[in-house]
Amino acid sequence: MSDFDRESDDVVAVPDSTSVEYNPFDEQTLADPIGTHRRLREGCPVHRFDAFDPPFFTLSRYDDVVSALRDTETFSSRHGQGPRHTPEGGLFSDPPAHTAFRRLLQRAFTPRAVADMEPFVAGLADDLLARLVGAGRGDLHAEFASPLPTITIATMLGIPPDDHSRFKEWSDALAADLVATDRETHRSVWRDLRAYLDEHIEARRDALERDDDLSDDLISALVTAEDEDASLSSAEIFGVIVQLLVGGNETTTSLITNAVVRLLEQPDLLQRVRADLSLIDVVIEESLRFDAPVLGLFRTTTCPIEKHGVEIPEDAKVMLLYASANHDDAEFDEPDVFSLDRPPQEARRHVGFGAGPHFCLGAPLARLEAREALRAIVSGLPGLRFDGEHERVAPFYLWGRRSLPVAWDRPDTEGEPNRRSGSTTE
Ligand code: HEM
Repeated sequence: MSDFDRESDDVVAVPDSTSVEYNPFDEQTLADPIGTHRRLREGCPVHRFDAFDPPFFTLSRYDDVVSALRDTETFSSRHGQGPRHTPEGGLFSDPPAHTAFRRLLQRAFTPRAVADMEPFVAGLADDLLARLVGAGRGDLHAEFASPLPTITIATMLGIPPDDHSRFKEWSDALAADLVATDRETHRSVWRDLRAYLDEHIEARRDALERDDDLSDDLISALVTAEDEDASLSSAEIFGVIVQLLVGGNETTTSLITNAVVRLLEQPDLLQRVRADLSLIDVVIEESLRFDAPVLGLFRTTTCPIEKHGVEIPEDAKVMLLYASANHDDAEFDEPDVFSLDRPPQEARRHVGFGAGPHFCLGAPLARLEAREALRAIVSGLPGLRFDGEHERVAPFYLWGRRSLPVAWDRPDTEGEPNRRSGSTTE
């Protein structure tokens, strides 16, 4: 395609898919996705990134992202959510196969199963916090926000408490593995986790055959999930569990740390939330909008299409930027302001959990965990403040903290200076 069309004597620019410099992997973009996305939305709504094999396109405007997420006939998930083509299977599929598979999972992941977890998650948040309080300072990522979702999902799955630390190591390794280059470590983590989970899956199948009572957990629910003549194979159950770990743990951790960062940056907001804990739900939705933990994921085109004058060929990988959609001023008033005063119907339009048929299956669980985590932090750590630099997570498509050093007033010294650095938020 030529870059210019000629109309009489004037030269009229045809949208150019590389007119804004955008490299999702470079330091500047990693450090400031919000600013980079703004430039894309304004100057290059369909971007082509050539320095990747295969080259991929990026959509950044709210309308384009949402309509692509809903149009599964054109924007397929069959080749996975990443920048390279991967084999079809499980949730990496399109309707109607995806609809049937997802229905089986929903039988296990019911709103009731999540609601039943509330007392456990509240207790876990309080326990993790109680271990921290006396220290006066710590890494809120490593010591609180990271263990909370991992222990919660391990408990839901029915992993015995003695194995939780081993399970967390596997889960952390899987998340780190997404960006690792060491294929051997990758293979051994998968092998060990597969062997471990297969034992649990087989134990449920044996119990089922003997007509014994099954334990009331997610692995049992996945083993017994049936729909007409479909059920889940052990390999499919393993694949689903991996997706719950990879897609659910670090993202929920990020939701918690991202929200804490914004509240510490705006102490007046933290004070408002302390005075009225019902605002925590508002903080969670605004954090999902403002700091989407998943910046964007990929689809693959099933036919050539044209958007904003740019041609996207068939079989091209296209990144859909949820995070950028959430900052589109065509949809949100003052999108770059973190505000607790958005009208609810506007606040709810964010696509932090995606949209369309692949909308996050774990959204109710993530919201529950974030609610209990923020309640414990806001009400249990007086004088909370930054205590050093916080670091970004490594994968280019995720957005969260991999460390968040903070300090607070220890119970015996409340209001007294055990303060090392940073300003108080009280
Ligand atoms: C704040 C935390 C979370 C965020 C930001 C998040 C984000 C997302 C997004 C953006 C998608 C859409 C993917 C796509 O468009 O292809 C998604 C799908 C999914 N999420 Fe989450 N997620 C979170 C937590 C969780 C949790 C806790 C679980 C389960 C334990 C979970 C399980 C899933 C699953 C299974 C899918 C695939 C659904 C499908 O393909 O039909 N997520 N998530």
